[in-house]
Amino acid sequence: RWAAAVGPRRVLLASPRSFCAGVERAIEIVERALDRFGAPVYVRKQIVHNIHVVRDLELRGAVFVDDLAQVPQGAVTVFSAHGVAPAVREEAARRGLRVVDATCPLVAKVHAEARRFAARGDLVVLIGHAGHEEVEGVLGEVPGAGVLVEDEAGVEGLPPDRGVAYLTQTTLAADEAGRVAAAVRRRFPDAEGPRGDDICYATTNRQRAVRAVAAEAGLVLVVGSANSSNALRLAEVAGRSGDASQGGGAPLVRLVDGPGDVALDWLRGVRTVGLTAGASTPGSLVDAVVAALGGLGPLEVEERRVTEENVEFTLPKEVRP
Ligand code: F3S
Repeated sequence: RWAAAVGPRRVLLASPRSFCAGVERAIEIVERALDRFGAPVYVRKQIVHNIHVVRDLELRGAVFVDDLAQVPQGAVTVFSAHGVAPAVREEAARRGLRVVDATCPLVAKVHAEARRFAARGDLVVLIGHAGHEEVEGVLGEVPGAGVLVEDEAGVEGLPPDRGVAYLTQTTLAADEAGRVAAAVRRRFPDAEGPRGDDICYATTNRQRAVRAVAAEAGLVLVVGSANSSNALRLAEVAGRSGDASQGGGAPLVRLVDGPGDVALDWLRGVRTVGLTAGASTPGSLVDAVVAALGGLGPLEVEERRVTEENVEFTLPKEVRP
């Protein structure tokens, strides 16, 4: 009856979406470590911020810990994609752990920049979100010489009498980070920024793609876990995008961990659903959400591809074939 009245509902798939090269590499590292060394393989923190990925690897013998103190002496231990502070590496070495480092190479690049800026005496301003593991890792590189700034107001609190350089977390919303970086440059005209951009290609591409679908959707579903920085930013970016087809206002945006989180309420009166997923979300969860929407009535699925991705990273030597 609903279908006869308004025609099939449309799903617009943002593309690129789901796994980035850094996440694929990190998951493959744990899988290969399990194959090569046998279970258990310890992983410091969630390997990537997705509850489904973590549960799946747990079933295969990975043991996730918050602290290296929970890892038995000498055990195989993987560092997560978000990177670690040097103090964590030192602790691992002290305890004789066999470390396999799954830090995304694009996060490692930010660490290297932080060290370079601090070595020449600059105060390293990291634009990012408090409490995120990536931020802890980067600031850990420059003890006493780094400071976190979360927004434009934070720039006002920086000490006036030091050379300043700035960096950003890799998974920020590009528009917001750009505003904070501009505020840093206004206050410190000599401030040097990163070579190129710290916001990674995957974050940038997923934000462009969600903007493209949000412009046409009444509801945007972002599949991802609530602790995933890049998934949260996708939801924010979508919320700031216009909804041309449904009266001009911003679309309703919801972050869901999987199809079970989708509430029927959200779909009322919505003809076009935009769908994307964070860089740590498996593509199978997007398929499951599409299947669930299909169970509610006729569905047309279209993809909006804003760019192609062909980034690949090599594996660390400990697990290389
Ligand atoms: Fe790396 Fe960006 Fe993915 S920093 S882990 S490629 S979201």
